[in-house]
Amino acid sequence: MDANKQTVREMGHRPEATRHSHGMAMFTCFAILWTACCLCLLLQTFLRTSYTYLPKEVMEATTPADLIDATASKTVYAERSFPSTVFQSPAESLSRDGKPDTQPPWARKFNPIVPIDTCLIRQDEKYTARTATLLLEYKNVYLNEQRFNLGSFIRSALMFAAILVCFGACLLGLRDDFFARSSRVTLSTLFVFLHMLMLVIAQHIFHIYAFGNSYHLRIFLPMALFPSLGVYLLGIRFGICISMLLSLLTPTLMGGECPYPLFVHAIITSFSGIVIFHNVSKRNGFLLGGFQLVGILLLLSLYFLWQAPANDAWNEWPRLFYTLLHTDEPVQLPYFWIKLLMMALANGFFIMIALFFLPALCERFFDIITPIALHELSSMDHPLLNRLNDEAKGTYNHSVQVGQFAYDAAQAIGVNKLLAKVCGSFHDVGKLRNPEFFIENLIEGQPNPHEGLSPIKSCAKIREHVIYGGELARKYRLQRPIAEAIVSHHGTDVISYFYHKACLEAEAKGEPLPDKKDYSYEGPLPRRKEAVIVEIADICEAASRAELQKWDHIEYAKVRDFVDKLIMNKMKNRQFDEADLTIGELTIVCDVIASSICRLYHGRPQYAKSKDEDDEFQAPRPTIVNGALSSIDLSKDLMPDQPEPAKEQKTQPEPSQEQKTQPEPAKEQKTQPEPAPEPSKEQKTQPEPAPEPSKEQKAQQVSDTPAPPEAQSPKPPSADEH
Ligand SMILES: [Fe+2]
Ligand SMILES: [Fe+2]
Repeated sequence: MDANKQTVREMGHRPEATRHSHGMAMFTCFAILWTACCLCLLLQTFLRTSYTYLPKEVMEATTPADLIDATASKTVYAERSFPSTVFQSPAESLSRDGKPDTQPPWARKFNPIVPIDTCLIRQDEKYTARTATLLLEYKNVYLNEQRFNLGSFIRSALMFAAILVCFGACLLGLRDDFFARSSRVTLSTLFVFLHMLMLVIAQHIFHIYAFGNSYHLRIFLPMALFPSLGVYLLGIRFGICISMLLSLLTPTLMGGECPYPLFVHAIITSFSGIVIFHNVSKRNGFLLGGFQLVGILLLLSLYFLWQAPANDAWNEWPRLFYTLLHTDEPVQLPYFWIKLLMMALANGFFIMIALFFLPALCERFFDIITPIALHELSSMDHPLLNRLNDEAKGTYNHSVQVGQFAYDAAQAIGVNKLLAKVCGSFHDVGKLRNPEFFIENLIEGQPNPHEGLSPIKSCAKIREHVIYGGELARKYRLQRPIAEAIVSHHGTDVISYFYHKACLEAEAKGEPLPDKKDYSYEGPLPRRKEAVIVEIADICEAASRAELQKWDHIEYAKVRDFVDKLIMNKMKNRQFDEADLTIGELTIVCDVIASSICRLYHGRPQYAKSKDEDDEFQAPRPTIVNGALSSIDLSKDLMPDQPEPAKEQKTQPEPSQEQKTQPEPAKEQKTQPEPAPEPSKEQKTQPEPAPEPSKEQKAQQVSDTPAPPEAQSPKPPSADEH
């Protein structure tokens, strides 16, 4: 397997039973769908509906006299070809091309004589015995079609099975984890079942009210509904898959002599629905989309009518104009075309209304989130985000930035960028409980609440923000993908600052080292690509805030290295074991986040001071280095809106003599950004500062290696230092 295609999860361990469970899910899905298709077929027989159209009155007529009454002012077309005893001589063939039917009498019994789309009786035509016989023969064909036919049922059931098996195998070949997500499989199954059921019911309604012939029926059936809903809820790939499957199943269910027009109609309307509705971001998009669909349906009908010259519908227009211009007779409206327009409008309106209401229902009962909901949430006007802005401004700023990083990264690898942005914006809402325990919310002079708390208690306070975030997600009814991103954005990482602090204390007391699990987040690990991106964006944003302030100038290559180290530490800690991301995608995510960091911390020339402010007029300094990146005076220019560090954080924490003798922490303990530093009194009184680490060590310390208390930098820690 190509390394770039290998998922991060595959690089780690993968449950042995995964493939087996996918196979089981596929088999269950197949069994349910096949049963559903067969049930719909039985229901169709029970409702006595058929693709072939015959007015109800004609169906109930038993004598030619009844037929005359039944078909008064009706036009009836042959929806299928059928042998007829009316034509006993070749000269009487109904063939419209003028060629005589030369087949012998015995052959007529087996071969069709009356071709499909032949007009059996026109609404203004006078009845003859010949017409009545023709209609009765056609009626018998129709009645035969309606009767339950075991052979026909088995044929259709086998065809359903063949389509479903081939389709499932193709999906599994294309993407072996297609059946891994229960919501996706459940929705596909439900959509197929509802589509088939809807077709049978719509066909039944059509026949009861005798709306027209098969052209009218085709345009009446809302075949684009579930493909449109699928693409809207689950993306374009899912939409295409479901369209293909439904377009294959539809002609098998509907029957009819020629499935080709039905298949073409189904596939074109489904794909049109995909194109029209896949990117609807406002509710009025459904309205516009509905009208676009009506236009496409009408064009499609015109195409099929053009293909069928035998159809009498085209004669309605010359008849209308002739009556208008040359006779005083009452005008016969072109009913065929009026009905066609009505059917298209009914179909378009039905889809429009259904798409207004169904997405909200699906959102409620399945693990999905609609584009409209994402647009609303990404406007940052959600009550929970407003609370975060009011009560924890530092966290709010950090979250906005994480959302933006996640958006850029998701866009680069082609996943749901709005979902990534929203997940990033909400990921730290749990900090609304005790926001003062997070350094980004402390302002100068405010006491650090971690002082006086034991490491295990501080750790519990930090860890709480993930659990409380999940509770808030439930309380505010945030959709499941967002709630998942909130509870998984730290995975099972160790809160290494407090773990290390606890280790130092234990060693000082001569006690055994504490268990790492007590100082770790409880998980779960992120799975969705968007959630993994949020986890990466979170650590990169937080660590870069703390680290980049120490750099003389920012270069892309350095930032990229810095991001790489953060990601490698996450991988080393097995934080991507459940991730759906490929190595190639992970590389792109790192690239994009590194350039986003560079753009965020870009340098600017100093603004010139006015003569009143300063006698010395300062021209802007050219600071561009290394292409687009700037060499900047970080101490002056960077992050003017950052909260000032608390006073006690400004003083260099100095190690006590005892602490100086402590052994170096293990490498893996260095992999977390540090929480609010809490230098002890002893540390403060030490005259000697910690030795200056090398540049590489510095990056390691801030980003992924928590410095022990004695080596803490006086700078405020980053926004997500926990
Ligand atoms: Fe967090
Ligand atoms: Fe965060």
